Amino acid sequence: MQRFTNLTILVTGAASGIGLATTQRLLTEGAIIIAVDRNAESLAALCQAHPHAAITPITLDITDEQAVMHSLAAITHLDGLCNAAGGSGRRAGDGPVDSCTLDGWNYTLQLNLTSQFLVSKACLPALLARRGSIVNIASVLGIVGGDADFATHAYAASKAGIIGLSRAMATYYAPQGLRVNVVAPGLIATPMSQRAQSDDHIKSRLAQLQPLTADFGQADDVAAAVAYLLSADAKFITGTTLTVDGGWTAG
Ligand code: NAI
Repeated sequence: MQRFTNLTILVTGAASGIGLATTQRLLTEGAIIIAVDRNAESLAALCQAHPHAAITPITLDITDEQAVMHSLAAITHLDGLCNAAGGSGRRAGDGPVDSCTLDGWNYTLQLNLTSQFLVSKACLPALLARRGSIVNIASVLGIVGGDADFATHAYAASKAGIIGLSRAMATYYAPQGLRVNVVAPGLIATPMSQRAQSDDHIKSRLAQLQPLTADFGQADDVAAAVAYLLSADAKFITGTTLTVDGGWTAG
């Protein structure tokens, strides 16, 4: 499939995990990639791994409004955006509400939700000009309440916020031809989930949580869903949340 020939797609978090797999998938399908990440070293490694690919790397902290506007608002030609960058706020103080600190709350909302708002805002003029498409990465924890093993409530709120923001944008911008969809992954084997991958208790729960494979999903599984929603195959789809979770939210 070459669904992205001559199409320019911006991917955040492009240097690792789901963003990296998405970048590689889109490159395979002919895309021109603007790869955004705060990790300059990993971005350089991405470019080195694909010496003949059309990749423009941009090192950027997407929680920094001025930096985002400065680096991204100048982009005039954009067919798609995948907001994949994000992560856990556990070390910053996220947890169940009774122990989640305000700093942890603010950090996590900023990292996962405000960042997507800022990047989308900076890219909107270029995307609207091309009747483009946005895919935002949320999480199953934005849909279901995780139990004690997944009790990071700022994270859950940030991911539910992504779904709300995406639906509002989908509705508002539909008459202008812009599509906005969400992919909500379950547990996926990436650097972000390393702690879970080496936790025997979490591993013992996979058969119950993700019964389709009783295992972690792969970043490629998520990338395939992102590519579908970004592509013309999904040209009549907006405002939807596609779960990629081995059955977690089905039950
Ligand atoms: P990852 O840690 O492998 O990759 C995240 C990338 O985003 C890294 O390259 C990092 O440098 C970049 N990044 C983080 N904050 C940034 C910032 N402020 N500015 C610029 N770049 C930044 O993580 P993974 O697993 O690929 O996660 C991607 C998205 O998927 C996140 O939004 C995460 O919440 C979501 N997700 C991941 C799941 C999993 O099990 N791995 C499950 C559900 C959702």
